[in-house]
Amino acid sequence: MLPERALAGVRNRPFGIYVHVPFCATRCGYCDFNTYTAGELGTSASPQSWMEGLRRELDAAAEMTGAPTVDTVFVGGGTPSLLGGDGLADVLGAIRSSFGVASGAEVTTESNPESTSPEFFDRLRTGGFTRISLGMQSAAQHVLKVLDRTHTPGRAVSAALEARAAGFEHVNLDLIYGTPGERDEDLDASLDAVLSAGVDHVSAYALIVEDGTALARKVRRGELPAPDDDVLASRYERIDARLAEAGLTWYEVSNWARSNGAGASEATGDWRGASEATGDWRGASEATGDWRGASEARGESRCRHNLGYWDGGNWWGAGPGAHSHVGGVRWWNVKHPARYAEQLAAGRLPVGGSEQLTVEDLHVERVMLTARLRTGLPVAELDAGEQRAAEEVAADGLLVREHDHFVLTGRGRLLADAVIRTVLR
Ligand SMILES: C[S@@+](CC[C@H](N)C(=O)[O-])C[C@H]1O[C@@H](n2cnc3c(N)ncnc32)[C@H](O)[C@@H]1O
Ligand code: SF4
Repeated sequence: MLPERALAGVRNRPFGIYVHVPFCATRCGYCDFNTYTAGELGTSASPQSWMEGLRRELDAAAEMTGAPTVDTVFVGGGTPSLLGGDGLADVLGAIRSSFGVASGAEVTTESNPESTSPEFFDRLRTGGFTRISLGMQSAAQHVLKVLDRTHTPGRAVSAALEARAAGFEHVNLDLIYGTPGERDEDLDASLDAVLSAGVDHVSAYALIVEDGTALARKVRRGELPAPDDDVLASRYERIDARLAEAGLTWYEVSNWARSNGAGASEATGDWRGASEATGDWRGASEATGDWRGASEARGESRCRHNLGYWDGGNWWGAGPGAHSHVGGVRWWNVKHPARYAEQLAAGRLPVGGSEQLTVEDLHVERVMLTARLRTGLPVAELDAGEQRAAEEVAADGLLVREHDHFVLTGRGRLLADAVIRTVLR
């Protein structure tokens, strides 16, 4: 049971639902997400048993939280597109039958380029999805091969164009940079491809060699070199420069969004526009009394669901291994799809663990997350010692003070983790 105090403000703040789809056709060598191939699952779990569990979890979630209106939905994975357009429409239908979904809600699904088609995107559009996020990673064949990606270099761009043709205004492409063997010209080709797709959002991640992955084993055996920090830094700068030139502005260290049509930001010439009024990203909404409508009308290209995570918002994460946060309580589900379905079939929530965040935890988290945003770290969040540390970091050119926030500079973004450690020390 969630304590009363955790539920107190739930109705007055944006509420998100994350749904985890734990299935992939094959496993990419770099990925340590909670996902399983059909061969790994055998007969222990299936998309059907998962969907039954999901319906049960959503019903229980609505009962526990008092079913607040849902402002953002994010279906992630794994590979949600393996469920097909009808399967994903069923997922949204299940959310709608347990919770109310706001009329201007942002409804995203991740998709793998190779399991999409024009019909798939049409079905998602009619089913109520508003945003598509595609894993592209690279446009270079030899880089895709090192990453174990099964799609052709051109498929992600074709999929993005198909999504736009189906009426999706909001389309994201994920890139990974710094893969062993990637050259500057490979990254340039990837950026040319991304820009040719006309998407309004790009996420670009430095390749992380995660423990326990096939990639980590190859690096350990000396078959592949580990990504080089200086190369990663210069690739990041290249990405930021090309995207900025094309009108895609950073709003979180690894995320860029198109600013055209975003009235709030155009008014002030930067992304702080919406937030400056109240000092947070819900500014636009609170000022107008309805941030959902406000951001829809302003052509918001940033991912509102992820902004909710970074702003300490409330969300229920449904599905195996999904994490949730409501009013300072955080919990996470059991990871294996078979255990997940079993627990729900037995009438229990599939909770693997939980914690009540202390005031200190909340502070550390808020500093870590807001510092990575273009809107910046609120000065008021910092105690006197932390403010002094932030001023010193600013004197070194890694932060800049803008009104009542500290914002990472270009060089600061390359060293974001070190900046945060220094401020919190
Ligand atoms: C959970 S994955 C789901 C996307 C989808 N299954 C796909 O692969 O197309 C989300 C994104 O995380 C990124 N990612 C996953 N593992 C990573 C790693 N080890 N290093 C950097 N980025 C990673 C990839 O860009 C990927 O598209
Ligand atoms: S990157 Fe995507 S497709 Fe590859 S294993 Fe991870 S979740 Fe599955």
